Amino acid sequence: MTYKHSKKIDTTKDVILPCRKNNLDAVKDLLPVSQPDFDGSFGTYQLLYGTHGNRIYLLGLGEDKHASQIEDTFRKLCYDTKQYWGKSIQVYAEHLNDDDIRKAVIGLEMAQYVIGEFKSKKEKTNNVTVTFHASKSIRKILDEGKYTGETINRIKALVDAPPNVKTPEFLGEWANKSSVIADYKCTILKEKELKKQGFDAVLSVGKGSVNKPVVIINEYKGKAAKKTDIVLVGKGITFDSGGLSIKPSTNLHYMKSDMGGAAVVLGVVELIAKLKLKINVTGIVCSAENAVDAESYRPGDVINSYSGKTIEIIDTDAEGRLCLADGISYAVRNIKPDYLIDLATLTGSVVRTFGYSAAGMFTNNDEMAKTMSDIGYKVHERVWRLPMFEDYESDLHSDIADVRNFSGKPIAGAINAAKFLEVFTEAHQNWLHLDIAGVAFGASPYAKMKSASGYGIQLITEFIKEKASK
Ligand code: BES
Ligand code: ZN
Ligand code: ZN
Repeated sequence: MTYKHSKKIDTTKDVILPCRKNNLDAVKDLLPVSQPDFDGSFGTYQLLYGTHGNRIYLLGLGEDKHASQIEDTFRKLCYDTKQYWGKSIQVYAEHLNDDDIRKAVIGLEMAQYVIGEFKSKKEKTNNVTVTFHASKSIRKILDEGKYTGETINRIKALVDAPPNVKTPEFLGEWANKSSVIADYKCTILKEKELKKQGFDAVLSVGKGSVNKPVVIINEYKGKAAKKTDIVLVGKGITFDSGGLSIKPSTNLHYMKSDMGGAAVVLGVVELIAKLKLKINVTGIVCSAENAVDAESYRPGDVINSYSGKTIEIIDTDAEGRLCLADGISYAVRNIKPDYLIDLATLTGSVVRTFGYSAAGMFTNNDEMAKTMSDIGYKVHERVWRLPMFEDYESDLHSDIADVRNFSGKPIAGAINAAKFLEVFTEAHQNWLHLDIAGVAFGASPYAKMKSASGYGIQLITEFIKEKASK
């Protein structure tokens, strides 16, 4: 899609008229009838015809509380009706604020996502020019919306990709290509280098797979200062079979989405580089395949880690926290950022707690928690904080190693995983962990099976934008 800005509307051509609930007044001069039976309820739309036979789509944005989800309304309208749009369409945006316009573009862009990348017959996509009408200057907002929507689609394609294609090495190649397009530095640490540098936990998780682990380090420098403001660490398990503590086969195919945290980290670095934000951010992706093999690490093993702390493996299915541990240790030892955020599809426990409506948030920093929570509401990628009480610590004590990777109890799973990660943060004051297992992947009206959601791109980008503006 191509997005243009114009101050004048052409009343003979097709147009989308977005309107809030019971507020048709804002668009009344452009209506072909005085009282259409349309109340602007969220996500509804109605087609009217103008005197020139042009199409006029009334689009319901709903109430104020729906402002965070405007992209859904544009996405649905575009998905359902794009086949009738021809080469161009207009959007009346005089009464929309910058956030609304950005979200409208994100929604239109998201409607272009093609899930059937691996079908032998490719779906045809036609490029439509969408002209937004507003008297104020909106060029920057249109570009921001397009970059954001494109990035969301790119990371959805990664998460939806089959695990035989998106090996750890493939994620590395994706990052490398992205770094050339968006102009940031990408370093890929492969097996030999990981051994040399001591990424023992990542290596242990990946031992059972022919697809060897990689650690991806993406450095974006948007300002001259040497210091890194923010490090993002992502869990990049390209397929989680559970390892020797093997998972049941029902829904096992969905474990291709266990690199959802990595996808957010890769996407956000690409996006902020395209947006040229004035901030220094490093993305670290620890990627491995958790497979079953004679070489696989075992329950009972004691492994080493980047930090030097030894870990007793109780369950090889608690592999994500091992990979993250090395990524977090690398960040606090070598990069020492102001803020440290990790994202991971880490536990089934968080899915049982919040379903598909919020990520679990863990931090000892109240201010970061509040900022993240507020942004979560604003972009409709919500988070909900769970406690980090000391009480949970003893569950991770091991008789024979420094720490164990699972309590062995069927309780407080998401909290225990967060407490495990905390061990490797070296008490970093501004660390925040997001367990996105319930929100990264799920049911959608645009696919028959579960698929990637794109959750996290707007949340983390807005968080970075806020820090960049200070
Ligand atoms: N990748 C899973 C978590 C997960 C579950 C992601 C459902 C998406 C949807 C993770 O590696 C895992 O298996 N966690 C176990 C840990 C347990 C063995 C301590 C879990 O949560 O059951
Ligand atoms: Zn697992
Ligand atoms: Zn996993």
